[in-house]
Amino acid sequence: MKNIDTKVLLEIDRQNVFHASTHLKQYANGDLPGRIITSASGIRIKDSEGIELVDAFAGLYCVNIGYGRQEMAEAIYEQAKQLAYYHTYVGHTNEALITLSERIIKMAPQGMSKVYYGMSGSDANETQLKLVWYYNNARGLPQKKKIISRDRGYHGSSIASGSMTGLPLFHAHFDLPLERIKHTMAPYYYRREDDGMTEREFSVHCANELEKMILAEGPDTVAAMIGEPVLGTGGIVPPPEGYWQEIRKVLDKYDILLIADEVVCGFGRLGSDFGSIMYDMKPDLMTVAKGLTSAYQPLSGVIVSERVWKVLEDGTDQWGAIGHGYTYSGHPLGAAAALCNLDIIERENLTANARDTGAYFQQQMQTAFANHPLVGDSRGIGLLHALEFSPDKQRRTHFDPNLKIGPQIAAACLEEGLIARAMPHGDILGFAPPLVVSTADVDDIVDRAKRAVDKVTNKLVHNGNWKAA
Ligand SMILES: Cc1ncc(COP(=O)(O)O)c(C=O)c1O
Repeated sequence: MKNIDTKVLLEIDRQNVFHASTHLKQYANGDLPGRIITSASGIRIKDSEGIELVDAFAGLYCVNIGYGRQEMAEAIYEQAKQLAYYHTYVGHTNEALITLSERIIKMAPQGMSKVYYGMSGSDANETQLKLVWYYNNARGLPQKKKIISRDRGYHGSSIASGSMTGLPLFHAHFDLPLERIKHTMAPYYYRREDDGMTEREFSVHCANELEKMILAEGPDTVAAMIGEPVLGTGGIVPPPEGYWQEIRKVLDKYDILLIADEVVCGFGRLGSDFGSIMYDMKPDLMTVAKGLTSAYQPLSGVIVSERVWKVLEDGTDQWGAIGHGYTYSGHPLGAAAALCNLDIIERENLTANARDTGAYFQQQMQTAFANHPLVGDSRGIGLLHALEFSPDKQRRTHFDPNLKIGPQIAAACLEEGLIARAMPHGDILGFAPPLVVSTADVDDIVDRAKRAVDKVTNKLVHNGNWKAA
């Protein structure tokens, strides 16, 4: 790797690149530092200054097979040499896509029938919304169009997917959400109002709230509900016991479809092929992305059940070819990357590793943090974990947002050579290491995180910002 001049390149970057999720002015004027990533291998990334970091968030919970897989590069290269591109409009296809689609349908829960492809989770959820609308038009139910999502859900940042996202940051100043998209309560047991509720009772309460919303909106106007099996970006919140069964009952009662957004959970992260299978969600539609290619190529998918598919077919009988398509739908390079990625996951038993090493990870995080004075909640499943910080463990109060506890702790982790993510809403630090982590890696991640949390705790005490309740 040739030596690069970090300062010069970052200056060019500041002048030319519009970065995602960034304070634009602070970055432009140099108050916010940049980092040039130059290489990566396994669970570690390296920057242009030679600093190595353990990536306990797998990029954006997507590099599930770990970085630097030559086999992936070769699979993409071989496909590019043979056929780099042809579109999939009007029945055109390619071999990688055929093989991949058959494989996804075999892995998916029972009743799934077809896969439509996009490039990102956001565009796949955009497709979901259009399919649901088309579905109800084809059934002669033009009023049945509203989508119920959840507070703290994350489904992307385009117009429809950003509307389905239930986080204020993604709505404010963008004139979102769209009128037809509503949000019901998050299944956030830790933040329940009634302390006396068991998890099961809380699940029933969430389902009752959903039903109330459906009745208030009018059941004939509600088309679908979308939810991540485990809430991700909104705080890494596994569902309380029995939640999805209770929700499914309500949806069935009012003829409402369920879209499982598996963008984070799909392909092994929870220790199961899909969260829908783990929680027996019985979805009608599923969204996949990230773990499908482990981010070696941009590829997403909308998996459509036979129930929905039949109606879509009937729609084209009435109206002709479906008016939906992206130039890059079913891109052969994405399909080749996905096939190789799924081979690696299967050959190396990475889903089982997410389950077993995941269980060890959960246990080690609990041991290190459950009794930590700054940590209100330590929760997770498989290779997903969140630490939620609170100034008063018993009363579950919030820190003053100006203290920016999450970002402070994420910054302290970086000083320890560890990437963990300050989640965008609340004082929550997220972990989602690649599925290749070993128990030794877990010990290392937990040790570094512990040092970081202790450091910030001491600093808060020292500065008079906090003392244990
Ligand atoms: C559950 C979920 N759905 C959708 C998306 C959007 O995916 P993308 O960023 O590829 O558009 C994300 C991204 O984090 C996600 O976590």
